[in-house]
Amino acid sequence: MNVADSEVVAAVLRQCNYQHTEHPEEADLILVNTCSVREHAEQRVRTRLRELGKIKQKHGQVKLGVIGCMAERLKGKLLEEEPMVDLVVGPDAYRLLPDLLEEVDGGGKGINTLLSTVETYADIDPVRMDKNHVTSFISVMRGCNNHCAYCVVPSTRGRERSRDPETVIGEARTLFDQGYREVTLLGQNVNSYRWNANGEKVSFEELLGRVARIDPMLRVRFTTSHPRDLSDDLLKQMALFPNICRAIHLPVQSGSTRMLRKMKRRYTREDYMDRVEAIRTYLPDASISSDIIAGFCGETEEDHRQTLSLMEWAGFDFSFMFKYSERPDTFAATHYPDDVPEAVKTRRLNEIIGLQTRLSRESKEKAVGNILEVLVEGTSKKSEEHLFGRTSQNMVAVFPRGDHRPGDYVQVNITACTPATLIGHPVP
Ligand code: 5AD
Ligand code: SF4
Repeated sequence: MNVADSEVVAAVLRQCNYQHTEHPEEADLILVNTCSVREHAEQRVRTRLRELGKIKQKHGQVKLGVIGCMAERLKGKLLEEEPMVDLVVGPDAYRLLPDLLEEVDGGGKGINTLLSTVETYADIDPVRMDKNHVTSFISVMRGCNNHCAYCVVPSTRGRERSRDPETVIGEARTLFDQGYREVTLLGQNVNSYRWNANGEKVSFEELLGRVARIDPMLRVRFTTSHPRDLSDDLLKQMALFPNICRAIHLPVQSGSTRMLRKMKRRYTREDYMDRVEAIRTYLPDASISSDIIAGFCGETEEDHRQTLSLMEWAGFDFSFMFKYSERPDTFAATHYPDDVPEAVKTRRLNEIIGLQTRLSRESKEKAVGNILEVLVEGTSKKSEEHLFGRTSQNMVAVFPRGDHRPGDYVQVNITACTPATLIGHPVP
């Protein structure tokens, strides 16, 4: 999400003659795009701001700004707490950056954290910041109307709004014409994408189909799906298009219905299992990945065991796993005590990570012996002689380079694996 937003910001700044650089030392303006989902993420931003503050002291002219969720959450407080910051811009105010920069030039501070109910930056042609020119992201909706009790996103990113489908398709087609071979459609809750204007109604499955139809050589992924909104219709639509990747990110958060209710997730353990079974029915070769939170308010050993047992049952191919981090002003922060001791959270998280490590290894081992199509993204980090890419299931595979190049689709015979990577050789 933040990569896609940074690309929009770079496009807005290009209009006032800024160019993107990888090197903060040569910049006239440094913007830190931020996340507030966990406290740890915010602490890292503060450390980074102090490092960048030193660059600012050395090169007096440079302006330093904070954009994104942390700007939205802290607003003017950020200017008070981090005095080297000149600019604070929330996720719906990026178009105003040129004006805000003028205010800073005039010796003031620039701040705008107004949220919008309509801004989607649909007309902005993002400046691509990916390194490989093969895979890219397209933001299709912004905001979130859910009220998960632990989550700060609805207050930092505002209400849900969907982007005009024509602009999404146009952006995907341009990327394909430029040589990109994979797009990931992004939204906090991407399945609730819904366009309804001038008598035209477009659902997420329709949008997905329209992007997939651009060219069979364009792979399409999407994230993130909410278990309540992952419909059979969407799964059936995916099954119709081989170029819609067989990978579904479906965050469960907890395997205990009691916890899910407290989290206000609006599904039970059984509802989640029903969605996994639907995926297995319509897309038997799909991988399923998840997000899991350890140690949410009031979580007992029994709740934790239910998370482990659900993970085992679903056989997640991959998970992002977190300790619960209380976020100010969320429903959980104002209604429930954060009462699972830190040491217990750590132990439970470690058990979750231990189990996921085994499940990830088993999922890779199952791929060994198969021939899988890999979209090449670049040279392997470990060896110049090898390329790496991803399978449709979103597994990383490495293989000897031969005559292949980034952007090629290669049939790879998978002969071995490590816990994180498939290893193979191209089928002659
Ligand atoms: N503490 C820990 N993890 C969180 N997430 C969201 N809010 C919190 C929080 N307060 C996790 C969820 C979500 C992912 C993006 O971040 O698992 O799916
Ligand atoms: Fe946060 Fe829930 Fe919305 Fe995801 S669906 S962004 S966890 S409120």
